[in-house]
Amino acid sequence: MSFASQDPVGAALGAAIRAPSPHNTQPWRFEVDGDRIEVFLDQDRVLKVADPEGREARLACGAALLNMRLAVRAVGRTPVVGLVPRANEPAHLATVRVRGRRRPNPDDVAMARAIVYRRSNRRAFTAREVPVWVLEALVRAAAEEGGALVPLTGGARLAEFGGLLREAERVQRDDPAYQEELARWTALEGARKDGLPAAAAVMGPEWPFDRRPLVAVLLSDTDGRAAQVRAGQALQRVLLRATTAGVSVSFLAQPVEVPALRGEVARLVAAPGCPQVVLRFGYGFAAPATRRRPVAAVTHYTGGG
Ligand SMILES: Cc1cc2nc3c(=O)[nH]c(=O)nc-3n(C[C@H](O)[C@H](O)[C@H](O)COP(=O)(O)O)c2cc1C
Repeated sequence: MSFASQDPVGAALGAAIRAPSPHNTQPWRFEVDGDRIEVFLDQDRVLKVADPEGREARLACGAALLNMRLAVRAVGRTPVVGLVPRANEPAHLATVRVRGRRRPNPDDVAMARAIVYRRSNRRAFTAREVPVWVLEALVRAAAEEGGALVPLTGGARLAEFGGLLREAERVQRDDPAYQEELARWTALEGARKDGLPAAAAVMGPEWPFDRRPLVAVLLSDTDGRAAQVRAGQALQRVLLRATTAGVSVSFLAQPVEVPALRGEVARLVAAPGCPQVVLRFGYGFAAPATRRRPVAAVTHYTGGG
């Protein structure tokens, strides 16, 4: 499937809204002026309890930004991205300009096609192991965007991670504010096009879920706002690369969300960098797609044309 629109701006926006986001909050908005798209964080959609600094929301916007780049390339144009926010506008994250024609490269087309098929798969995975060459492709995908994907190898490290995950789940389960926020974004009624389906919000099967778990931590070099947007692009490139390889992914973000445990994750990784998210890879059964707000609901068209 390709995006309905061959118009590069329409293709970019249609791709952007498919990005993953915490609790499916879709914390982005766009301003379009001719062939220029400004990307903003929608601060009203930042999870105040789970994500008080907006770090995960910026990861989601970075994921949307990678989708935009891939979609523009897939329709044969060149995206030029500026990651320098406009002065005095903390919500402004990036500018995407659509530039000259170029022949789409087949991998960009494959990655762009994967955007609509990618989904978080929280179910237990089969016993089939992710082969080493697929893992290497995932690691390269993160590196291409300046991130580092580090697998947690060895039974002892995985068991330790399992301990951190359980501890993070306990902290969040015992925090009424966290639970209230989660409930507010779950099983939203009627025409709402955001939030989590009820089945996604229940705690998954007990760790370690899978017979042969592959768990990896995505790291950024620094932890400033722009670094988080870049890390979101690395995250999305990893997720789409997994999708093109038929590999399912889910997020195990909780130990990075709990401030007291984020340092523990960094220690466990034993590689330099700031943990941004933890991912679990495997071969699963089909997972349902989640809803999205339409492009028109998140885009404002200004002047130009
Ligand atoms: C930064 C970030 C953190 C997330 N953390 C979790 C998590 O801890 N547990 C979980 O089940 N899903 C997590 N998700 C997945 C979102 O719930 C999911 O992306 C959203 O519901 C949209 O669904 P989709 O990914 O299938 O399109 C996270 C997503 C992002 C971008």
